[in-house]
Amino acid sequence: MSLRQIFVTTALPYANGNFHIGHIMEYIQADIWVRFQRMQGHAVNFVGADDTHGAPIMIAAEKAGVSPQHFVANIAAGRKQYLDGFHISFDNWHSTDAVENHELAKQIYKDLRDIPDAQGGSLIERKTIEQFFDPEKNMFLPDRFIKGECPKCHAKEQYGDNCEVCGAVYAPTDLINPFSALSGAKPELKTSEHFFFKLSDPRCVAFLQNWTQGLDEQGKPRLQPEVANKVKEWFSVRTNPDGTTSEGLGDWDISRDAPYFGIEIPDAPGKYFYVWLDAPVGYLASLKNLLDKRRAEDAKSPSYEAYMADPTLEQYHFIGKDIVTFHTLFWPAMLHFSGRKAPNNVFVHGFLTVNNGEKMSKSRGTGLDPLKFLGLGMNPEWLRYYLAAKLNGRNEDVDFNAEDFMVRVNSDLVGKFINIASRSAGFIAKRFDGKLGVVSADGNALLSQLREALAPIAQHFESRDFARAVRETMALADRVNEYVDANKPWELAKLAGQDARLHDVCSTCLEAFRLLSTMLKPILPVLAEQVEAFLKIPPLTFANAAQALPAGHVIGEYKHLMQRVDIKMLESLFEAPEPAVQKVSPGGEDIAPTISIDEFAKIDLRIAHILHCEAVEGSTKLLRLTLDVGEGVDAQGKPLTRNVFSGIASMYQPQDLVGKLTVLAANLAPRKMKFGISEGMVLAASHADEKTQPGIYILEPFPGAKPGMRIH
Ligand code: 2FM
Ligand code: ZN
Repeated sequence: MSLRQIFVTTALPYANGNFHIGHIMEYIQADIWVRFQRMQGHAVNFVGADDTHGAPIMIAAEKAGVSPQHFVANIAAGRKQYLDGFHISFDNWHSTDAVENHELAKQIYKDLRDIPDAQGGSLIERKTIEQFFDPEKNMFLPDRFIKGECPKCHAKEQYGDNCEVCGAVYAPTDLINPFSALSGAKPELKTSEHFFFKLSDPRCVAFLQNWTQGLDEQGKPRLQPEVANKVKEWFSVRTNPDGTTSEGLGDWDISRDAPYFGIEIPDAPGKYFYVWLDAPVGYLASLKNLLDKRRAEDAKSPSYEAYMADPTLEQYHFIGKDIVTFHTLFWPAMLHFSGRKAPNNVFVHGFLTVNNGEKMSKSRGTGLDPLKFLGLGMNPEWLRYYLAAKLNGRNEDVDFNAEDFMVRVNSDLVGKFINIASRSAGFIAKRFDGKLGVVSADGNALLSQLREALAPIAQHFESRDFARAVRETMALADRVNEYVDANKPWELAKLAGQDARLHDVCSTCLEAFRLLSTMLKPILPVLAEQVEAFLKIPPLTFANAAQALPAGHVIGEYKHLMQRVDIKMLESLFEAPEPAVQKVSPGGEDIAPTISIDEFAKIDLRIAHILHCEAVEGSTKLLRLTLDVGEGVDAQGKPLTRNVFSGIASMYQPQDLVGKLTVLAANLAPRKMKFGISEGMVLAASHADEKTQPGIYILEPFPGAKPGMRIH
């Protein structure tokens, strides 16, 4: 087979958090496939990048008090430890905020806008839409940043796109009493011009029908059947933001208004590409960055343009099932209608659950912390093997189960596979100077079973059915172990005159081990390197594995290749971390529900000067205060004052308060009390449980505050 040029990516992770185990599963899946292709001699460029743009990251950066650029750079700095730790062999890691991405995204947009014109109208259309606007933050609000009461079940504090309580889907404008989750302000409806990609255009529909439901470049159905079926539904019916349904593909809103952390749309100041427009372009940007770097080193290396122009180039994207729309509709259409080649395929996987638990969501990647796994000294190849044994290339969820993990690693990987070498290598070293011997007929019969399995197992890797590759490899390891048990080298070693048979049996075992190592090499790259060093052989490939090591080949020293999983490690891995924050009720009571800034602003707090203070006859609790809050003077030129009763007699002598400044809630409705009318309330602090923790303390402003000043 001729050398294939293959370009592979994994989904670009949002640059607002560390990797969780779901990311690592996807990277391991793609990495196994990439390593397999490289073993086959194909030329693969495997790239990733951080997905940096969008409102959530902009807002997170603002909260952290840093620029978005600084924020995403911090996240990027943490990526290497995971990628190296799990042996993920990316050729490049880049960023969607890099210059290559700004340029490519703008170019693709311009091509999209201009090229189809010749064929009957641009696919980019401007439409004025109404959207919620936060008057305090001065920005349009993404749906996730609008909250309010669910119009169906009336649950409070629900997001603008759907209700987490009853599951209703609606438009943000359907929320009852909507408020901005950023400022608490009541959002206003405002119009704005947005840019749309016309997916509903018959040219787009025809192309996407064919791309998603038709055959690939090899003449096979392109998408996984379960994915193709899902996508098919979208051509007939779609769910609108307000929960109603419409026929056919809807147009895609690709613009957002400033302020937005993203890429400005050419010739449209203040308008930015929606993050999902430039995110997949990041695949190309990372590739371009890689090829430019290579070309700077070696002028013969192809340019990005030359590489992309190769009609035989194959392009594949590994993604999770939650982002299928973007990758099977928007992205192929963007590429095709901008005059580029659509991807050859997208490979969709399910979610990872841990111990039958919940799915690893993007934001709450709890359960199995990849860095903790590494930090405990657990072997990353255990995880690679375990996940490989469960990934079958279909869009199905995968569960990480701790017990199953231990059984598969200890009994299968170590017990069945590694043990073949540990039971035979010592004899070759000690008894035969490290030289392999002649393999007799029964050994050869066994070995030919293994050699015949190379091609089908390679095919399982090609079709990403790693589970089947592992299953068939382990079934072969069982055959080899039966051969070991039948021949008992440890007994042959004790018998006189059995040296030749011992040599034959152990040589057969090591040759079998070499073949099995080849089959597992895409999954266990570090182990395979150790095997290559121990057997003193060039890098294993499916092609060269078929050639047996000759009698007389000298092997190196055998060192134990892999430990078993210790249950204590798993216990520590899933031990709940010490809670970082211990929530208590401050002052004896929980913080009251959130209010908006508008609600807070309704309370008029003023600096008050205590002109006079006296005990109240008939009350042990109250003091009567005469306060100046800067409200001017009466006809006689005397300051206008307020009469306020305050329950602070247990703490203060009236004369101690005279002349001091304090804080008054000045717009409380006057309250008629037994002793007179109270015209406001002096602010004072106390514990919720007055009985066990008595004490009430009035507030005193810092020097400089003047009567009448408002407190904001
Ligand atoms: O869903 C996500 O995590 C996105 N950041 C994936 C982007 S994939 C690609 F388009 F960049
Ligand atoms: Zn609801």
